[in-house]
Amino acid sequence: MWRKAYRDGGRRFRLAALRLFARALGLAPLIPPPPASPEAACRNEQRMIRRLATRGVTVPEVLDAGPRHLVLSDLGETLAAACRREPCPLRRRELIARGLAAIAELHARGVWVSQAFARNMVVAGDRIGFIDFEEDPATVMPRRAAKARDILFFVQSTARFLEDQPQALAALLHDELVRESPAVREEVRRVVRRLWWVPPIARHFGRRSRAVADALMVLAMVLV
Ligand SMILES: Nc1ncnc2c1ncn2[C@@H]1O[C@H](COP(=O)(O)OP(=O)(O)O)[C@@H](O)[C@H]1O
Ligand SMILES: [Mg+2]
Repeated sequence: MWRKAYRDGGRRFRLAALRLFARALGLAPLIPPPPASPEAACRNEQRMIRRLATRGVTVPEVLDAGPRHLVLSDLGETLAAACRREPCPLRRRELIARGLAAIAELHARGVWVSQAFARNMVVAGDRIGFIDFEEDPATVMPRRAAKARDILFFVQSTARFLEDQPQALAALLHDELVRESPAVREEVRRVVRRLWWVPPIARHFGRRSRAVADALMVLAMVLV
């Protein structure tokens, strides 16, 4: 089991800057929800877990709850860790495909997650689980944008595991996107189109910026 304690997060300035940027460019999926107090984050995590569990999504069980902490059942290794230690490119591709399928499945059930990064997804036996729900993006954006956000975050966090096979990632994304509604696809498309100028710049910076560049390029292969 995991004991998760909620503290006041820093990063207020960076989040405010990102909010301004996302709003100025009309990119709803990238708008960060406002920072929550530890108590609010803790309540939100429980609310999201309940909502997702009701829709049949694999999430941890809440074993104990206080105002600023939760004890959650262990779901297993994160998808990020599983990808990192998997030397076989085909099996890595398989893991990413399972992650994308899990996101498509929960979207089809009418829900979305909070931050669909590979480090917030878990390989729970033959299922993919989800963790880390301190914020609900749907409080600051329409549901279609929250779903687009899931796809964008997932691609940004996994592109590096298929760096050597961008075509394969594009094919997986194509299969995922055809399962989404046209409104969700349009949200993803708008982000990729409006950020056309980012990849050429971002690839000259550190690993994180390169991941953003790679994700946008792969999505552009599928969408444009
Ligand atoms: N229920 C769980 N099952 C498996 N791993 C977990 C679980 N809860 C937390 N973890 C591990 O702890 C890390 C941090 O937890 P998370 O809920 O993502 O909090 P945060 O990212 O806000 O610190 C996760 O990336 C994962 O490695
Ligand atoms: Mg996390």
